[in-house]
Amino acid sequence: MSGHTSEDVLILAIESSCDETAAAVVKNGRTILSNAISSQIETHTVYGGVVPEIASREHIKAINYVIQRALAEADHTLEDMTAIGVTYGPGLVGALLVGVAEAKALAYGVGKPLVGVHHIEGHVSANFIENPDLEPPFVCLIVSGGHTHLVIVKDYGEFEIIGRTRDDAAGEAFDKVARAVGLGYPGGPKIDRAAKEGNPHAIQFPRGKVEGSPYDFSFSGLKSAVLNYINHEKMMGHEIYVPDLAASFQYSVTDSLVSRAILAAKEYGYKKLAIAGGVASNSALRSAMKEACDKNGIRFYHPSPIYCTDNAAMIGTAAYYEYIKGRRSGWDLNAVPNLKLGER
Ligand code: KG4
Ligand code: ZN
Repeated sequence: MSGHTSEDVLILAIESSCDETAAAVVKNGRTILSNAISSQIETHTVYGGVVPEIASREHIKAINYVIQRALAEADHTLEDMTAIGVTYGPGLVGALLVGVAEAKALAYGVGKPLVGVHHIEGHVSANFIENPDLEPPFVCLIVSGGHTHLVIVKDYGEFEIIGRTRDDAAGEAFDKVARAVGLGYPGGPKIDRAAKEGNPHAIQFPRGKVEGSPYDFSFSGLKSAVLNYINHEKMMGHEIYVPDLAASFQYSVTDSLVSRAILAAKEYGYKKLAIAGGVASNSALRSAMKEACDKNGIRFYHPSPIYCTDNAAMIGTAAYYEYIKGRRSGWDLNAVPNLKLGER
C-alpha cells in the first residue's frame, strides 16, 4: 500500500468485551489508521445497564461490518495485516467470545499471528496514541466501569499494582449515583454534564479512605452517603437539585483519585502521570489532575475522550507492544472474563 513500507507492523485489532463492538487498524503501535466503533448503548439504555446476552447478540450482528469499515477506512486489506490483536479479558464472557472467535477465524484464514490483549493494558496503552514522547516507566490511574487501579507502568505491558478499589469501581459509582437521581445509563457522562451547572461544595460528601492503605480506594461509603442524602431530602419534602448533587459527588470522587495518584507519583519518584479508562474522560477529573500535576512538577498525560472509553485502537497499540516482544497466542486462545491485571 502506498505510504507504507514492508517493515511496518500493521495490526487489525478487535474489541468486544462489553457494549462496544470495535475494530481498528494501527500502524507501528502509535499511528491509528482507522478506529471503527459500533456502540450498543442505546439498546441497553432501556434496561438501565448492559444486559450480557443482548451484548453478545449485538456483537455477532455488528462485528463483520465494523471490521470491514476499519479496513476500508485504513485503505487496507486483511492480507496487508502483520497480525490480528484481540481483547480476551476481562469482560463479559459471551461478549469476549465473539471477538476472540472472530479474530481466530481471521488469523487462521489469512495465516497471520494472533495476539491476545488484556483489556486494561489496552486502556493504559491509549496514552501512547497521542503522546509520542510517552514511554514507561510512569504512574497510571486506571478508572473504568469495572476497574480502579493505581499502577506503575514499568515497561510496555508490565505493571506493578500499588492501589485498587476495595469495593465499587469509580465508573460503577458514577453509574449508580446517576441511576439514583434518574439520569439513566451510562451515568458517567450524564453526571459530568449535570455537574457543570452545579456547585461542587454545595453538599459535603465523605472521602472514602482505607486505613493503612494510602493507595487504595473505596467508593461504597460515598455511594451510601449520596443515597442517604437523597432519601433524607425526599422525606423532608425537599426537591433535589441534581446539578449540585452531581458536582458534589464528582468532587468527592475526583479528590480521592487525584490525591492518591499524586501521592504515588511523589512517593515512588515519578515525574509522569497518566490516566486511563472511561472515567478518565471526566472533565472535572482531567482538570483537577492537570492542576495538581502542574503544582507538583509532574507531567500529566491523558487520552482524548474517544480513546478513554472502550475502543479497538488502544487494543491495537497494546497488541503492537506485545507483538514486538514476540508474544503470540495459540489457536486455543479463550475468553478469560476475570483476567487479572499482570496475568496472561
Ligand atoms: O472503560 P469503559 O468504557 O468500560 C470499561 O472497561 O468498564 O468505562 C465505562 C465507564 C462507565 O462506568 C461510564 O459511566 C464511565 O466509564 N464514564 C464516565 C465518563 N464517561 C464514561 N465517568 C465519568 N465521567 C465521564 N465523562
Ligand atoms: Zn474498558
